[in-house]
Amino acid sequence: MSTSLATVAYLGATILFILCLGGLSNQETSRRGNLYGMVGMTIAVLATVFGTQVSAAGLPWIAGAMVVGALIGLYAARVVQMTQMPELVALMHSLVGLAAVLVGYANFVDPAVSATLTPAENAIHEIEMYVGVLIGAVTFSGSLIAFGKLSGKIGGKPVLLPARHWINLAGLVVVIYFGWRFVTAHDAGTATTAMVVMTVISLLFGVHMVMAIGGADMPVVVSMLNSYSGWAAAATGFMLSNDLLIVVGALVGSSGAILSYIMCNAMNRNFVSVIAGGFGSDGGAPKAAGGGAAAPAGEVHPISAAETAELLRESKDVIIVPGYGMAVAQAQHTVYEITKALRERGVKVRFGIHPVAGRMPGHMNVLLAEAKVPYDIVFEMDELNEDFPDADVAMVIGANDIVNPAAQDDPTSPIAGMPVLEVWKAKHSIVMKRSMASGYAGVDNPLFYKDNNRMLFGDAKKMLDEVLAALKG
Ligand code: TAP
Repeated sequence: MSTSLATVAYLGATILFILCLGGLSNQETSRRGNLYGMVGMTIAVLATVFGTQVSAAGLPWIAGAMVVGALIGLYAARVVQMTQMPELVALMHSLVGLAAVLVGYANFVDPAVSATLTPAENAIHEIEMYVGVLIGAVTFSGSLIAFGKLSGKIGGKPVLLPARHWINLAGLVVVIYFGWRFVTAHDAGTATTAMVVMTVISLLFGVHMVMAIGGADMPVVVSMLNSYSGWAAAATGFMLSNDLLIVVGALVGSSGAILSYIMCNAMNRNFVSVIAGGFGSDGGAPKAAGGGAAAPAGEVHPISAAETAELLRESKDVIIVPGYGMAVAQAQHTVYEITKALRERGVKVRFGIHPVAGRMPGHMNVLLAEAKVPYDIVFEMDELNEDFPDADVAMVIGANDIVNPAAQDDPTSPIAGMPVLEVWKAKHSIVMKRSMASGYAGVDNPLFYKDNNRMLFGDAKKMLDEVLAALKG
């Protein structure tokens, strides 16, 4: 493929990626957005493989790697459950980071790369390598820890080392010092030492940073690592002199940063305090489940599926609040069946979606779209929160942290200040979950003890099937 044709292909792919991101910003256009992304990526891969940067001798290697990668991807797409998607995404971010580290080291050890460069170009290239490996290593180890936390292999509680901010600051100073040594080094030994020390510190920093972040802040971390993976890809693009990778990396990096900002707003947190860690504890030493606030007490009022159906049947206005438990139970289709049955009876049914419900941005929207719930009855928290006092029933399906009134009422609560869906203001609230266990942030929920709240204990899918049967019966 000629250079000009490759440039045109890269330009086309870039436009498609921008259209893809635009499409993904809205549920109604998201399928089209995905399609743009897939076509763009196909063009990008073909233009790169058959472009001028790959020699004929390299083609069999690339073909082999693509077959292996495609098989792993196909296998993962088939076996991974919807509830495992967040951790899969975290794992993929770690691979982008690892790729940046490997490309950086490959550039570093290959004498042919710097042979054709002028001294000034060489200095720039060395900075690219150093920064690329740094971002890649932080992304790699941080994403692996995020994977562990999201999959429950590592506890969600923040691990706060004494003097952790000083440790991070010392790490930064050492990395900058060795960066200077790396760029000014006259011998391979000094440069190698600098590179290795920086890599080890970056890996440790990634682990330390994500370990210090509490359960309730994980949404911000997921989007932040998404952003880092973009910058790692952009750094790889600089090292490989590949314009498309630079542009795509910057697109992912900046959209991830915007998403982190949106998540911070949704959680009423500022970015620096998220990075500093500790949310989900009292800011001091890590605590046992239950956090810093006093455990709520009182009487819990259970309700049966038949009674739930009766209550719903008598209602005029119902708001459904889905959470992570709906994803676990895969109850979205039954939820929609119930919605249809109620709407046929003239009941007004709406869905209230918290920005961090579930385990990944847009988790609930994806599930509801899969069940074909119409978009015009799905509302964001801010659009719906003041309507709860008018609702007859607020039905909470497998949600916990996002409907915890302690966030508003109890300044000592570990999640104090986080905006929540005010379901307790409805005439009745019904919480569907299997037990009295706390949610992802490990905080007790006083909602369960409110006089107007009822608990429908059991697996959400099973209980909703029973509610549907009773509604239709
Ligand atoms: P959670 O607070 O995690 O609560 C989910 C509840 O679902 C649990 O208390 C659990 O109680 C119940 N549950 C689990 N399986 C169930 C099943 N089969 N049937 C019925 N109930 C079931 O979820 P949420 O309210 O959606 O809040 C999300 C939390 O995750 C927030 O703390 C958020 O910060 C965090 N987080 C979010 C993200 C993103 S990006 N959205 C990423 C990482 C972390 P039982 O065990 O008693 O059933």
